Amino acid sequence: MIFLETMRFVDYGQVGFSGNHAVPSEKVDMPKQNNSLANPTVFIETADSNLEIASGDNLLDALLDSGHEIDYQCRGGYCGACRTTVISGEVEYDELPLAHVNHDEILPCCCRVKESLRLDVKLRQIDEEKQGDLF
Ligand code: FES
Repeated sequence: MIFLETMRFVDYGQVGFSGNHAVPSEKVDMPKQNNSLANPTVFIETADSNLEIASGDNLLDALLDSGHEIDYQCRGGYCGACRTTVISGEVEYDELPLAHVNHDEILPCCCRVKESLRLDVKLRQIDEEKQGDLF
């Protein structure tokens, strides 16, 4: 059996892609949640972009795939490397993670997104001058 994860980036003009890195542009207010689908869509707002994921999608993968700067190691709630500050919204865990998290933090690697979130995460910065030194 093959499981396909569904993730798409919101095309509100907030994030465009140039080469292999995300380029933020103007932000707009996001809808709270779309419950009309069997697998509801939730909206993730970060410091400089917005994205839309299905509620069952892995949040860490969604953030990494959209070009956000976020550390990770175990992907299982053990190490705490992916610890992320939440500004608003809630997540839940299938199993209580071993890594310590404060009341305003989540572990994107193993949480399940219940509702739209505002996270204190930024897009990766690519140093264009250093990139030029490689060639
Ligand atoms: S990557 Fe280890 S707890 Fe998330």
